[in-house]
Amino acid sequence: MATVNDNYLKLKAGYLFPEIARRVNAFVTANPEAKVIRLGIGDVTEPLPQACRNAMIKAVEDMGDRDSFKGYGPEQGYAWLREKIAVQDFQSRGCDIDASEIFISDGSKCDCGNILDIFGDDNVIAVTDPVYPVYVDTNVMAGHTGDLNEKGEYEGLVYLPVTAENNFTAEIPTQKVDLIYLCFPNNPTGATATKENLQAWVDYARANGSIIFFDAAYEAFITDPSLPHSIYEIEGAKECAIEFRSFSKNAGFTGTRCALTVVPKNLIGKAKDGSDVEVWKLWNRRQSTKFNGVSYIVQRGAEAVYSPEGQAQIQELISFYLENAAIIRAKLIEAGLKVYGGVNAPYVWVQVPSGLSSWDFFDKLLQSCHVVGTPGSGFGAAGEGYFRISAFNSRENVNEAMSRILNKFK
Ligand code: MLT
Repeated sequence: MATVNDNYLKLKAGYLFPEIARRVNAFVTANPEAKVIRLGIGDVTEPLPQACRNAMIKAVEDMGDRDSFKGYGPEQGYAWLREKIAVQDFQSRGCDIDASEIFISDGSKCDCGNILDIFGDDNVIAVTDPVYPVYVDTNVMAGHTGDLNEKGEYEGLVYLPVTAENNFTAEIPTQKVDLIYLCFPNNPTGATATKENLQAWVDYARANGSIIFFDAAYEAFITDPSLPHSIYEIEGAKECAIEFRSFSKNAGFTGTRCALTVVPKNLIGKAKDGSDVEVWKLWNRRQSTKFNGVSYIVQRGAEAVYSPEGQAQIQELISFYLENAAIIRAKLIEAGLKVYGGVNAPYVWVQVPSGLSSWDFFDKLLQSCHVVGTPGSGFGAAGEGYFRISAFNSRENVNEAMSRILNKFK
């Protein structure tokens, strides 16, 4: 009899977003006339930038011509895209990242999970709480944790609480951890990290031989010039950090799929026998074996993000969602709710009114306002008492959702 990966049996019943979808579908079935507005999952709504569409149309034509047709591309991504990323996203900010250290992929979510393939099973792993659930669930699947305890935490993981009390800034661990997940601007809290915050993490990682997985999927939403966009803006980070980035949120590629992971060549991990191993080589080997690259058409679309028109058009998209976030913040404050985030970030983190749990508040908003958000407890035990509202939606829907909430709560 074939056996299964028992680690999957340790997972909470459903991944957060499908669970929300299940509850919303049940509500819609029971209330077919309700016009439900979804501010739950952080999925973009606005059309792809024209520059990206033009580039993809042209790429489709290339595929129709024997001379420009492309079969398998490089597993790491086409050099013309990696070079533009290296120059415009990293070198322009003083980060010494070479194109060869950039790996194009079909998503940061996939890469955040896949990266575990090249790390040992005996690492001590730290996550913030609340946290993007993918970091936790992929470690559960890989057998890096024990069971879920009553608190809603997996045994064996180190949870670093981030709440209003510590200004949503995790304390540097007092114990030694080997792998650390950081996400800034943060999903779900919308908090940002200063250079000093990140320097403290990099110093910790270098002192302890740890590696930081830095998820910068939302870096484009930073408007404050003092805040770092990349961990490689921090001295020493190339020796201790892998960075994940995505075209999903800045350029609307959630349905198109394109992202990138930076693995610096001088990042070293330890083999069981204590010898040094270049992490880049393992990731390169992993990708070459298990991945065939992102389609030529999509990579041409991503390349167009770096053209002057593409840059202007993505800036419009980013500003649009940031304005949504500002509207959400302002209206929720007017409704008497306490809010965090939503500045330099597309997520607004709301303190739920006292006496209600995160899921109670979810149900209340759904039932009484027909508005969907994400319960904070779905991101971890310390997210209980909070609720996430995503700014990714049309202006009309954001205005309508906020006016319904204002009517209900004010
Ligand atoms: C979220 O809502 O947290 C995001 O959609 C996650 C993701 O991009 O996978």
